[in-house]
Amino acid sequence: MTASTPNTEKPVILSCAQPSGMLTLGNYLGAVRNWSEMLEKSECFFGIVDLHAITTPSQPAKLRQNVYECVAQYIASGLDPEKCHQFVQSHVIGHTELAWILTCITPIGELQRMTQFKDKAAKLGFKSSDDPEDIKFTHAGARAQASINAGLLCYPVLMAADILLYNADLVPVGEDQRQHLELCRDLAQKFNHQYSETFTIPKPYMPKTGSRIMSLADPTKKMSKSDENERASLYILDKPDQIKKKISSAVTDSGSDIKADENKPGVTNLLGIHSALSNKTVEELEEHFSGKGYGVLKNELTELISESLKPVREKYDDLIKDKKYLKSVLRQGAETAQKRAYKILGKVYRKVGFPERDRG
Ligand code: AMP
Ligand code: TRP
Repeated sequence: MTASTPNTEKPVILSCAQPSGMLTLGNYLGAVRNWSEMLEKSECFFGIVDLHAITTPSQPAKLRQNVYECVAQYIASGLDPEKCHQFVQSHVIGHTELAWILTCITPIGELQRMTQFKDKAAKLGFKSSDDPEDIKFTHAGARAQASINAGLLCYPVLMAADILLYNADLVPVGEDQRQHLELCRDLAQKFNHQYSETFTIPKPYMPKTGSRIMSLADPTKKMSKSDENERASLYILDKPDQIKKKISSAVTDSGSDIKADENKPGVTNLLGIHSALSNKTVEELEEHFSGKGYGVLKNELTELISESLKPVREKYDDLIKDKKYLKSVLRQGAETAQKRAYKILGKVYRKVGFPERDRG
């Protein structure tokens, strides 16, 4: 059994992640773990956004497999399917339809100044011009221009559609999504203003700890699924020996004090991870580690991460063998999501002036 009857009295929470490989400790602490704490008091929708995944190069067979791995990791991380709706974005009609309508009220300049777009474009060889409002296709980037697709630019509009299609009240995300969420709110307000009150204006929800876990190899960069450096990211399915290797090679800073400090991004990150997992404040940890060396911090942290992720890993190993079950979770999730999506999409179509289809 899965949660199939939406209870509309409760606040609606929606969040999504791309099925682009294994979830990192950043995804877990910044996102999924916090989602699982919201199940009791809210009507929760969690999407696996495969339409977003094809904005960057992807392989069909890998993408398909990633979707199942993603839902298995969601459930293993505490998203009980009996208490929330988990669905695949492409299974629900309305995401791309609403995205198109929103695209038609989105200024291109807003999309070009999105940090995530600029970062992804830069990775493909583009340079931002001095004009912060614009990304100029410089001569150096001319060849890469061919590989920047419009989907990458419109990514945040599709994300806004994911949220507004369910009239979500609250969107729990990591810090990196704040700008996208701001755009979503602006678009909702613009639509409401232009066509009359339709969308709920969604609020972001950022966790107090864990909202920005940094790379272990370069603690000035966020930990990301797509980092090519194997030591940069910890995955929630990493085995204890991999965790040990990655934590012991994590970049620390000069000096030996274990203190959270702007000038000590490496140690600050390790303390942040510890705090998010142990529920101790950073101040308590600084006191605990006072006079001790980085080695002690790293050993304790390795132990803490391995222990915290052990149940997730074990549950995942069972779930991934049971594709039939995973499919049934996604089927139920899509059915409930579709009901809600149709209602809101119908309303939007009427407001925009699309004529009703005559069904004879
Ligand atoms: P993504 O991996 O980009 O699909 O992100 C899925 C969710 O995880 C989003 O809510 C992100 O904000 C969150 N997230 C991704 N990376 C991190 C990180 N390094 N620290 C905290 N949250 C993160
Ligand atoms: N853009 C988000 C990310 O990369 C994923 C996402 C897509 C999302 N649609 C969403 C997150 C809707 C929250 C709500 O992390």
